[in-house]
Amino acid sequence: MPEHGKPSPKVASDQSKIIDNHQIALQLRNVVKSYPNIVGSRNPSLKTAPHEKAVLNNGLITNRDVIPVLKSVSFTIKQGESVALTGESGSGKSTILHLVAGLDRFDSGEININAISVQDLDETGRAAMRRDIMGIIFQQFNLIPSLTVADNLSFQARIANRYDQKWRDELADRLGLTELMKRYPEQLSGGQQQRVAIGRALAGKPKLILADEPTGNLDEGSSDDVLALTRDLIAQTGASLLMVTHSVRLAEMLDRRLHLSQGQIQ
Ligand SMILES: Nc1ncnc2c1ncn2[C@@H]1O[C@H](COP(=O)(O)OP(=O)(O)O)[C@@H](O)[C@H]1O
Ligand SMILES: [Mg+2]
Repeated sequence: MPEHGKPSPKVASDQSKIIDNHQIALQLRNVVKSYPNIVGSRNPSLKTAPHEKAVLNNGLITNRDVIPVLKSVSFTIKQGESVALTGESGSGKSTILHLVAGLDRFDSGEININAISVQDLDETGRAAMRRDIMGIIFQQFNLIPSLTVADNLSFQARIANRYDQKWRDELADRLGLTELMKRYPEQLSGGQQQRVAIGRALAGKPKLILADEPTGNLDEGSSDDVLALTRDLIAQTGASLLMVTHSVRLAEMLDRRLHLSQGQIQ
């Protein structure tokens, strides 16, 4: 109970709430993000992409200098929960993941991950946060071409001082990579590379996994299998998962679904 006449500052009380509640893994509060308006620039993907029009038609353009992508995004994910983030192409799903991962800054609002306030961290702090508590699976696999599958799997966990060979080997086994451990990324199919990227993200047993269309390059049957496997492996570590997908079918395989539209969670 705050002392009469001495209300505690808003930010401090919000943060203490988060520290007290170990159940909350990730919390976004009124996150706002705009990009500079470069429509009409020579960037062909931005000039012609149909989703640009969708953003324009959403009435989100407030002036000609910025494109407001996230108007006010708020949601909470509990520790151990797996949550799908759906929305039309261009609605800002990848933007949310980038902001949570501290790969880009937001205009206002808060992103809290357990006791960490992402908005208060500098670049070094954000890199440390990714290394120590996050596993990230991007659409592009970003495997290191000069390293074998075995080393790609363990590289980040080693850097974070969280390498556990037994767990890496179990991941390789469950993901069907054991026979491929000595190969290099260029010697793998797209689906195999995807499974390495998933294994790598899980190898350090991170608290929070961020995944952007992690099975986007697989056919329907394999993406169901790989997602079910990924979900089960994540559950085994007690991590939380925030996964972007445009597939309602895949979203339904997780605990809960958030839908992003018109810059807000609907
Ligand atoms: N770095 C950037 N600079 C300018 N605009 C961007 C940038 N990244 C994304 N956008 C724009 O922000 C909107 C949301 O993009 P994104 O988050 O990638 O959507 P989604 O992942 O839902 O398809 C799109 O209109 C996109 O063109
Ligand atoms: Mg995207």
